[in-house]
Amino acid sequence: MAIASIKEVAKLAGVSVGTVSNVLNRPDAVSPATRERVLNAMNELGFVRNESARALRSGRTRTLGLVVLDVTNPFFTDVAKGVEAVAADHGMIVTLCNSDQDGPREQRYLHHLEEQRVQGILITPVERENERLEQIIGRGTPVVLLDHRATRRNRCSVAVDDVLGGRLAAEHLLAQGHRRLGFVGGSWSISQVAERHKGAAQAVEAAARTGGQEEGGAEAPSLTLIEVPSLSFASGRHAAERLAAMPAPERPTALFCANDLLALGLMQGLTAAGVRIPGDVALIGYDDIDYAAAAAVPLSSIRQPRQELGRVAAELLLEEIDEGERHRHRQVLFDPELVIRGSSVRR
Ligand code: RIB
Repeated sequence: MAIASIKEVAKLAGVSVGTVSNVLNRPDAVSPATRERVLNAMNELGFVRNESARALRSGRTRTLGLVVLDVTNPFFTDVAKGVEAVAADHGMIVTLCNSDQDGPREQRYLHHLEEQRVQGILITPVERENERLEQIIGRGTPVVLLDHRATRRNRCSVAVDDVLGGRLAAEHLLAQGHRRLGFVGGSWSISQVAERHKGAAQAVEAAARTGGQEEGGAEAPSLTLIEVPSLSFASGRHAAERLAAMPAPERPTALFCANDLLALGLMQGLTAAGVRIPGDVALIGYDDIDYAAAAAVPLSSIRQPRQELGRVAAELLLEEIDEGERHRHRQVLFDPELVIRGSSVRR
């Protein structure tokens, strides 16, 4: 059975095609009684509007694009939940794209979203600079950087102060008496990772300057870099195998991981190798996803306001879509929060 046309709806309701179009696009321009007659006719005929035809006429779909680094990471599903809630309030839908931390794949998705004439794009970019993104913005598609600080004033962004987050994590481990710290992270093109490491290094350097050594100057604070290929649970597991094989006196006694998935993979791998958490190695992650608190040893983490990030970014994008040239770009920055649990506190 074919979908009914606007003409068939107009005929059944006894109105013009223009009136049916008004009910769909400018319902306030139609009297309540006429609007009800048209809606009844639509229900009776099983009418479904042709969004593609409407988008063709208006030049834009009622869709927002959301490009995330890793759709399997609960951080991004929480962010997406915030984006989707705001989009739905405005009668819009969200097309979710997973770049999987892969630059070329991200470029393909951006090209697709522009071809689809989405109203705007939210993106956590793989690379700091992105020529394709600049071209898309130049051709008139609004873009808001999500969980990534804009380096230009003429770009909107919503992010968390990751340098502060890294500092909070390292200061917490130093306050527990640790001196041999490790930073587990990778994909340095991801600015969040580089900024978390920068904050941790600042805290360790400050501790070294202020005589953070043990009594008798036994050991100066240090931060060893443990590089991983991606911010995933599997990468954490593989890093655990490397760390467990290290002689204990050389191994960091505390690890700050660039996100919770890495920390949870490390926790599982180190525990399987007989390394006690936190007794032998303390752990702290980043994001404070729901699984952090539920871990075998509840994971300390640096909390990001995930759904709030998504909501604020979507609201900024819709503002820019609505205001056009009049829009005043903003770079919103949230503070992270230290959440202390059993994985980093010496009993
Ligand atoms: O995707 C990598 C990480 O970057 C996420 O865990 C989240 O912390 C984001 O900022």
